[in-house]
Amino acid sequence: MKICCIGAGYVGGPTMAMIAKQCPQISVHVVDLNQTRIDAWNSDSLPIYEPGLDAVVREARGRNLQFSTNVDEAIAAADMIFISVNTPTKTFGMGAGRAANLEFIEKCARQIARVSVGHKIVVEKSTLPVRTAEAVKLILGNASSDASFDVLSNPEFLAEGTAIQDLLEPDRVLIGGESQAAIQALADVYSHWVPAERILTTNLWSSELSKLTANAFLAQRVSSINSISALCEATGADVDEVARAIGTDSRIGPKFLKSSVGFGGSCFQKDILNLVYLCEHFGLREVAAYWEQVVSMNDYQKRRFAQNIVKTLFNTVSNKKLAIWGWAFKKDTNDTRESAAIYVCRDLLLEHARLHVYDPRVPESQIRADLEHVLQDENGEISPNKAALLQNVTIADSCEQAADTAHAIAVLTEWDEFRELDFERIYQRMPQPAFVFDGRNILDRTRLETIGFEIHSIGRCHQRRRLADT
Ligand SMILES: NC(=O)c1ccc[n+]([C@@H]2O[C@H](COP(=O)([O-])OP(=O)(O)OC[C@H]3O[C@@H](n4cnc5c(N)ncnc54)[C@H](O)[C@@H]3O)[C@@H](O)[C@H]2O)c1
Repeated sequence: MKICCIGAGYVGGPTMAMIAKQCPQISVHVVDLNQTRIDAWNSDSLPIYEPGLDAVVREARGRNLQFSTNVDEAIAAADMIFISVNTPTKTFGMGAGRAANLEFIEKCARQIARVSVGHKIVVEKSTLPVRTAEAVKLILGNASSDASFDVLSNPEFLAEGTAIQDLLEPDRVLIGGESQAAIQALADVYSHWVPAERILTTNLWSSELSKLTANAFLAQRVSSINSISALCEATGADVDEVARAIGTDSRIGPKFLKSSVGFGGSCFQKDILNLVYLCEHFGLREVAAYWEQVVSMNDYQKRRFAQNIVKTLFNTVSNKKLAIWGWAFKKDTNDTRESAAIYVCRDLLLEHARLHVYDPRVPESQIRADLEHVLQDENGEISPNKAALLQNVTIADSCEQAADTAHAIAVLTEWDEFRELDFERIYQRMPQPAFVFDGRNILDRTRLETIGFEIHSIGRCHQRRRLADT
């Protein structure tokens, strides 16, 4: 059995490394157009930071796992081809800002059609709008050679930051398809380490739609608790206490009830917008409006956080140094796509703040590229005024360096290392009053208040308000 995976990103890399580790008899070839990314996969410095990934890659690479840019060759040799390319939100034309951009998927399908001989199983690993398999089948059906294909949907449910654990012990593996033989061939791969009862099979369309639905439900929980956080701040309730109280109800459950500055990542927003677009396409306006609100609430939460910083710092952050702790969209990843930090910092820069950013895993070039992107106008250009704002961004080597002489600290990623710092020392190096805006509710509020910080958490009345109330 030979597997090829097109796309060596956050999904293709770790998933294929896990298959190769668990199935030494299967040869796995991961290909990508991006030479730099492939070089990194072949080096000691992998392009993706993910706890445990290094060991998995080290075990299989060079044995039955290889990374290259030889896309045609890998497709031609494979029995099973995973398509794991990116499916970002369209930025132009019909459906701009909502629909998934499927040009990379289409290119893969055409390339597979062009290069293949014999029988191939083509597996959609990317997250796709329901009924994409129809288009993939149509393109493959027009292959000029006498190749034949089965198309399966096998969406990936891993979460970045815990990808290796998620792949090792998935809640379920979902396989949608029409051909029982093809479904069985893919199930046989997973059954090397996944118990049979966790391998679910459905029709193609249910599988495609289940992935969008799962992400919509997960994001909806975050937006729901975030909406309550605003009410907590207004009333004196504590959102973490509310989350604990409702999470013990077995019908609700405790997961995904952590209030924060807002969800990020490449998937939630993109997939919900895609769901919204699909609903509109099928004339289901009420359904579309219902799900769109999940994204609107998330935008509100990010905006509210930045506004709260400005309001609290006496209505101006102009020329004030602010420490930004964390840039990745969550801990234990170097992925910054749609990170709340980007939008909060954009809003603070527009208020002329001076930002000193520290993240343990995200390089300076990525932070600057993210900010440039959100400061661009619709033509992709940055006005001289906005370009000047970028000079107000400094990248720090540590939390302490970022916070040194800063008016406030904003915690935007829940990295564990932010919890245990010498806060007394940090406090002494800041002008008073020294503010902390904990966008992840990870810091020990009592300890920080005892030191003298004015701490603003998500979904809790802040100190000044509480003192005024008593
Ligand atoms: N990131 C996640 O946590 C996650 C989780 C589940 C599902 N997904 C879905 O998986 C898919 C991939 O996501 P990702 O985060 O891995 O994306 P990514 O951007 O990290 O990786 C995609 C890779 O595909 C490559 N590529 C694009 N077109 C190509 C082509 N024609 N030939 C060869 N390579 C090509 C790109 O160069 C890129 O390296 C998306 O549909 C996403 O929605 C992502």
